[in-house]
Amino acid sequence: MIKDFNFYAPTQVVFGRNAEEKLPELIKKYGGTKVLVHYGGGSAKRSGLLDKVFGMLKEAGIDFVELGGVVPNPLLSKVMEGVALCRKEKVDFILAVGGGSVIDSSKAIGYNTLYEGDPFDFWDGKAVPKACLPVGVMLTIPAAGSEMSSSCVITKDEGMLKRGVNSDYCRCKFCIMNPERTYTLPPYQTAAGAADIMMHTMERYFSKYEDMTLTDSLAEALLRTVKDSVFEVLKNPEDYRNRAQIMWAGSLAHNDLTECGTEKDFATHRLEHELSGLFGVTHGAGLTALWGSWARYVLDKHVNRFVKFAVNVMGVTNDFSDPKGTALKGIEAMERFYTRIGMPVNIHELLGREVTDEEIEILVDKCSRGGKITVGAMEVLHADDMRKIYQMAR
Ligand code: NZQ
Ligand code: ZN
Repeated sequence: MIKDFNFYAPTQVVFGRNAEEKLPELIKKYGGTKVLVHYGGGSAKRSGLLDKVFGMLKEAGIDFVELGGVVPNPLLSKVMEGVALCRKEKVDFILAVGGGSVIDSSKAIGYNTLYEGDPFDFWDGKAVPKACLPVGVMLTIPAAGSEMSSSCVITKDEGMLKRGVNSDYCRCKFCIMNPERTYTLPPYQTAAGAADIMMHTMERYFSKYEDMTLTDSLAEALLRTVKDSVFEVLKNPEDYRNRAQIMWAGSLAHNDLTECGTEKDFATHRLEHELSGLFGVTHGAGLTALWGSWARYVLDKHVNRFVKFAVNVMGVTNDFSDPKGTALKGIEAMERFYTRIGMPVNIHELLGREVTDEEIEILVDKCSRGGKITVGAMEVLHADDMRKIYQMAR
């Protein structure tokens, strides 16, 4: 069966070596007259990108204020600093210079500047977003895909509650992507980013809707491309061709293109958000630490899907007499790939220590919101399933 779908990808993408020059024109096109330039912990400063942005805005006569200091797994407290600044300075456009954390912080500022209730209401499910200040992006790391996604993931400092909320209001107006800006990424961030990109597509590929072969083929091509390119850029960080493949894949993996006719599962993501929320680890690394355990846990009811993945993505030879064996070889091949690019395949490797039983209970409690919600779509997981997967992954 092919699931009905509504594909909406309104973000203008300007891609290439000279893409940055378009910044002032794009801000004006989307109505920005007073801009908040929002950025992270220092990489954009060190690379000279921020100075370039400030210079271009000044030259174009676009008024702006700035707010840096966004941390990976961005915090609500920083969002509220941004909200106060936007209200005080009457900001009408937010420019995110960075990756998923800076973009999500920008989206959350955009939501909350126009909202009077409790700032975590949207993530708590107590209110639905109805408006957002326009957000534009200068992307420096391909990973989260937030530049084209409808999602915004924020951590509430109190209790370290990490949650996502989806709405089309926060879709970015434009995204400028210059692959050269990713040359400075450390290997760990490069690999974690690639893992996250692949997972965004895998979370839609592993679906009970299996008939949309065009979507499957797009997904498989994206996965093979990123898998091959990441080895090349780890060998040569200034490999433009392969940096470009990964950067574009990052947006396509999470702009719903590979969901047309399938559906989001996102169980691995939901389980992971508790790891990065509790331990502050890198999101992509948290995903690779869990995926193999999730896959083995749900495998039995979805063997055909895992066989297709093993053969078409991981290059496993199909043993028609042993479908489950073929499927398992695909999962093992994926884990070998993670290991080769320096990503963890269990929580011990992720944290550098054993996760305790008490910590697993905290993860389960947060992920299931005290046993009240389930995660996953291809296979729906309850609190007990979550516990078993965390235990398998420990
Ligand atoms: O803070 P700075 O100094 O800029 O350093 C960053 C940060 O430490 C660094 N970095 C970024 N560009 C760089 C660079 N270092 C050198 N050179 C560059 N060009 O990389 C580190 C990670 O940055 P971050 O923005 O945190 O990475 P990512 O894009 O992976 O974003 C992760 C966040 O996005 C969320 C994750 O949960 C996490 O909070 N996600 C958001 C999604 C969405 N909104 O659609 C979907 C994802 O599944 C994900 O959940
Ligand atoms: Zn992700």
